[in-house]
Amino acid sequence: MRLITKIGLGIVSASVLFVAGCAAAQQTVSEESLGLRKVDLYSENTVTPEETKYSQAVAGTSTKIVRAFQDAPPMIPHSTEGMLPITVDNNQCVSCHTPGVAETLNALPYPKSHMTNFRPTHKFDGKKFEKSIDNMKNEIAISEMQTLAGARFNCSQCHAPQSEGQLVENTFQAEYTSKDGASKSSWEGTSLTEGLDTLMK
Ligand code: HEC
Ligand code: HEC
Repeated sequence: MRLITKIGLGIVSASVLFVAGCAAAQQTVSEESLGLRKVDLYSENTVTPEETKYSQAVAGTSTKIVRAFQDAPPMIPHSTEGMLPITVDNNQCVSCHTPGVAETLNALPYPKSHMTNFRPTHKFDGKKFEKSIDNMKNEIAISEMQTLAGARFNCSQCHAPQSEGQLVENTFQAEYTSKDGASKSSWEGTSLTEGLDTLMK
């Protein structure tokens, strides 16, 4: 008797699930709601996408863009016409953003982190390569430099111009850890090595 009740219950709950399943299957997602174009897939070619528009303002006349988060690489607010690609013989960014020069042009100098070498210096005699640091340490040695570190030469690897227009609303709100975090980076001194098990040379 008990067994029969269990089987009966089983059948009832299975059919409830089946009906619920059918109801869910009937909910459809329209093609128009799927993409950013807001049309069905067959009408895609009727849509003109928003244009990519970079700032035309010449360096010295642009308005700085608020940092995305604390110590984010700032976006380039001015036009980069004629500056890219950066090559060994042509890096105009450096000519305006080098400390000492930048201040006179009202541009921000590149920060301390860009004059810090994070690469380990290994021994290489032309033939044999030898690690020069303790195996138990992370393979990083940090040393301050007086000039721009080679790893930072290609500015556009990290700093990009910002296109105007808003295809999707951005609701992200930054919470900066330092008071002027929206316009200034705080990444220098001991904060460069915070949490790193590394050698400070
Ligand atoms: C002719 C001088 C000049 C050149 C060349 C130049 N900049 Fe600038 N840059 C400025 C000035 C001045 C500002 C401040 C905003 C303004 O006045 O337009 C600025 C602002 C910036 C900022 C924003 C800093 C912040 O605090 O938000 C970044 C990032 C930047 N430049 C990167 C670059 C990169 C990368 C290049 C090379 C592709 C470059 N700049 C080339 C003068 C220059
Ligand atoms: C490997 C990535 C990377 C490269 C390459 C790089 N930057 Fe940066 N830059 C950053 C980051 C991340 C920050 C913010 C944190 C910091 O200060 O280090 C920053 C910050 C800056 C700032 C703002 C400093 C401040 O005090 O707020 C300037 C100006 C700048 N960079 C200019 C340059 C220029 C000019 C070059 C090329 C010569 C360059 N950067 C190359 C990642 C990079």
